[in-house]
Amino acid sequence: MAHTSWMITGGAGFIGSALVAEAVKRGVHVMVVDALTYAGHEQNLRWINEQNWPGNYTLEISDVRDSAHMLALMQHHRVIAVIHAAAESHVDNSIAGAAAFIETNVQGTQSLLDAARHHVARLSEKEKAAFRFLQVSTDEVYGALSGEGHFTLSSALAPNSPYAASKASADLLVRAWHHTYGLPTLITRCCNNYGPRQHPEKLIPRMITAALAGEALPVYGAGDQVREWIHVDDHARGVIAVLEGAAVGSITHLGSGEERTNLTIVRAICALLARKKNRDFLKQITHVADRAGHDFRYALDLSQTKNHLGFSASISLEEGLAHTVSWYLDHPEWISAMHEHTFKKRSGA
Ligand SMILES: NC(=O)c1ccc[n+]([C@@H]2O[C@H](COP(=O)([O-])OP(=O)(O)OC[C@H]3O[C@@H](n4cnc5c(N)ncnc54)[C@H](O)[C@@H]3O)[C@@H](O)[C@H]2O)c1
Repeated sequence: MAHTSWMITGGAGFIGSALVAEAVKRGVHVMVVDALTYAGHEQNLRWINEQNWPGNYTLEISDVRDSAHMLALMQHHRVIAVIHAAAESHVDNSIAGAAAFIETNVQGTQSLLDAARHHVARLSEKEKAAFRFLQVSTDEVYGALSGEGHFTLSSALAPNSPYAASKASADLLVRAWHHTYGLPTLITRCCNNYGPRQHPEKLIPRMITAALAGEALPVYGAGDQVREWIHVDDHARGVIAVLEGAAVGSITHLGSGEERTNLTIVRAICALLARKKNRDFLKQITHVADRAGHDFRYALDLSQTKNHLGFSASISLEEGLAHTVSWYLDHPEWISAMHEHTFKKRSGA
């Protein structure tokens, strides 16, 4: 194999597939590693084949916990950058059972870090200098904020959910592999993502699909929790800006500054759907018992990202949400394939 590649783990998932698209658009050869769990599906990647973009991708169906196979893949595909996005990603699932989160998010990261350091040890000095391992992480590692202030790069790690604790643990492993083994690592911590191809278990697609099905729109508690929302394509561009421009060993916040309460988001979805379908969806909103340990607010300080990296999100929430609602309306076959796939994986069928 003559060319070098980027390895993107979790590339058949929501954020991973947006990252693959952004890289292929820029002419990169991408090697996707994905175990195709209930959350990952080849249909999230197939559309990239029709775009006529200068790069390309290959999908290796494999588990990041298989360190020996990860190393073999890194060598075979001449990997010069690893973007690690594979994870168990849904907070509610982590509350129902944390084991898979520890196995994939913590052990999986350790196994991939080890594969990367053995791979880097075999690279030429020039390749070694260019190699990067980028960990895709989350603002949830910092815990919760009250109504005021932002998480800064010096905020303490104070994860509250099992999911957040598993991501914080993985971030600490990445830090240790940099300090102990000199692995050239980067960490990005991003706010809540939305956009096309997000698993229907997550807030925005869940509300859109339930609204269309005429079902109740379950809002946790009063719906006054505040989240910062970024379009997945902005997140993907931010990750690549970090890969190409951030200092080795650094942590970068990726966000949008677009803070909304959950109830505001659900109402906005109802309004967008009402315009398309000429129906009142607001009356389907139902308040349900709050999520255990529900964090009140997340918001990131983005000054370093803007001033040092020169990156800011470009898609406004109004524009991005309208586009996202239209995408789900235009892709009912994607929604049913995802439901069917998730059902099969969970029932072992
Ligand atoms: N969704 C968000 O709002 C958000 C925000 C910040 C950071 N993140 C992080 O971004 C990453 C991607 O999140 P997402 O929302 O796209 O998740 P997702 O659940 O849509 O995708 C995860 C992908 O990882 C794959 N995967 C899971 N376990 C695996 C394993 N053991 N080996 C190989 N592949 C495996 C799945 O098949 C799936 O394709 C995660 O690391 C998550 O923590 C997500």
